[in-house]
Amino acid sequence: MAESAKINIDGKEIECPVVVSIEGEKAIDISKLRTTTGYITLDPGFGNTGSCKSAITYLDGEKGILRYRGIPIEQLAEYSSFVETSYLLIHGHLPTQSELDKFSLAFNEHSMIHEDMKNFFDAYPSTTHPMAILSAMICALSAYYPGLIKEDPTQEEFDRIAVQLLSKVRTITAFSYKKSIGEPFVYPRYDLRYVPNFLNMMFSSPTHPYKIVDEVAHALRVLLILHADHEQNCSTSSVRLVGSSHANLYASISAGICALWGPLHGGANQAVIEMLEMIHQDGDNVQKYIAKAKDKESSFRLMGFGHRVYRNFDPRAKIIKKCADDLLNKLGIHDPLLDLAKRLEEVALKDDYFVSRKLYPNVDFYSGIIYRAVGIPLNMFPVMFAIGRMPGWIAHWKEMMEDPSTKIGRPFQIYTGEAKHDYVPIEQRSYFHK
Ligand code: SDX
Repeated sequence: MAESAKINIDGKEIECPVVVSIEGEKAIDISKLRTTTGYITLDPGFGNTGSCKSAITYLDGEKGILRYRGIPIEQLAEYSSFVETSYLLIHGHLPTQSELDKFSLAFNEHSMIHEDMKNFFDAYPSTTHPMAILSAMICALSAYYPGLIKEDPTQEEFDRIAVQLLSKVRTITAFSYKKSIGEPFVYPRYDLRYVPNFLNMMFSSPTHPYKIVDEVAHALRVLLILHADHEQNCSTSSVRLVGSSHANLYASISAGICALWGPLHGGANQAVIEMLEMIHQDGDNVQKYIAKAKDKESSFRLMGFGHRVYRNFDPRAKIIKKCADDLLNKLGIHDPLLDLAKRLEEVALKDDYFVSRKLYPNVDFYSGIIYRAVGIPLNMFPVMFAIGRMPGWIAHWKEMMEDPSTKIGRPFQIYTGEAKHDYVPIEQRSYFHK
């Protein structure tokens, strides 16, 4: 394998070192390119560009491999808890029993939000999208814990913010849901674990205590673990970029939530169900919508399909599809949208358009089926993604801030605007639009 790459341009030569990871990933380090040759690279969407080195997650898009700190997600989904997986991602190793007990206890200590924050919910229209509320409320936490919004928090301060975010994100989510349906808030309970506590806050009411069904808690535990991290995706890269200016962790996470909201990213789980409902209303006409997805004249895309990195099955989609089947069978639910989703997958994966472009179901294709079965409202599906991704965002912010080579993220551009021309006084402007 090459140890370097030579670039000869305009009579100048630069030798760029090659970086190789333990998994065999290869990169050309071009950090001296501009100062040596005056050239920059151009790579819209960063499809060929690595932004950093990271030890948190590894994925292989060709082989459909995903590991958190070296552990396959299939094993974590089978044996771990979301709290334990969060510890693994943030601290780099599986916790001992005493470490896990201390970490779990802190979740209970930090599950409440300041009582004054309840007033925020009163100000939002009931139709507000919960991602707008979540991003604002996460940033607003910094107002109630000003002592923690430091450029360089101590390890203890960082650990406290991390657990606050992981624990309070449930409470904020449940409170925004309760507000949207006009029901009183249900407070977190000390005796409930992560997912059951969330379900209880979401679905209990003074007249109807929520009965926690193990299968439902299991399905959400698996979903949260599978969403916990995914390398330099759009929202994690946003957290890193914002944090690179030394913005505090609350602000960086709030930016990540906004990036995740987009239907091409974490908003896809909501868009998938909206798409399936539309196709179902149109008589489950699979062929019609597969044709539309292939038609360049149509803006329709098969939401939940395709991925920048996976050129094979998204390993998470496989687990989620089985989890959806198991949960609906156990709950005795027949969801026609699950049948429709499977049919779309079956037809697409026999169609050269999808096969040649290596478009497979991604993490969002089946996850909404589970959220529907649990009773989570459609516009909260991206919020569920955000709850799951919280440990990944926190872990990347920490890794970046601890990396001495980290600099503020500031990409260049290629200018395509007007050539230099003088200011024209308004009375002389006879603008005509070209
Ligand atoms: C997530 O990055 C991550 O890790 C993200 C994520 C995570 O865990 O953080 O995995 C979570 O965001 C998953 C993706 C959720 N988004 C969707 O399901 C939206 C639908 N998918 C697409 O919009 C698209 O596939 C993306 C956004 C996921 C990836 O886009 P790319 O890599 O920029 O690919 P592209 O748009 O350039 O598509 C390449 C070709 C194009 O056709 P040609 O120009 O070659 O003819 O594939 C086509 C596209 O038109 N294509 C699709 C398609 N996705 C790609 N055609 C129809 N339906 C689709 N879904």
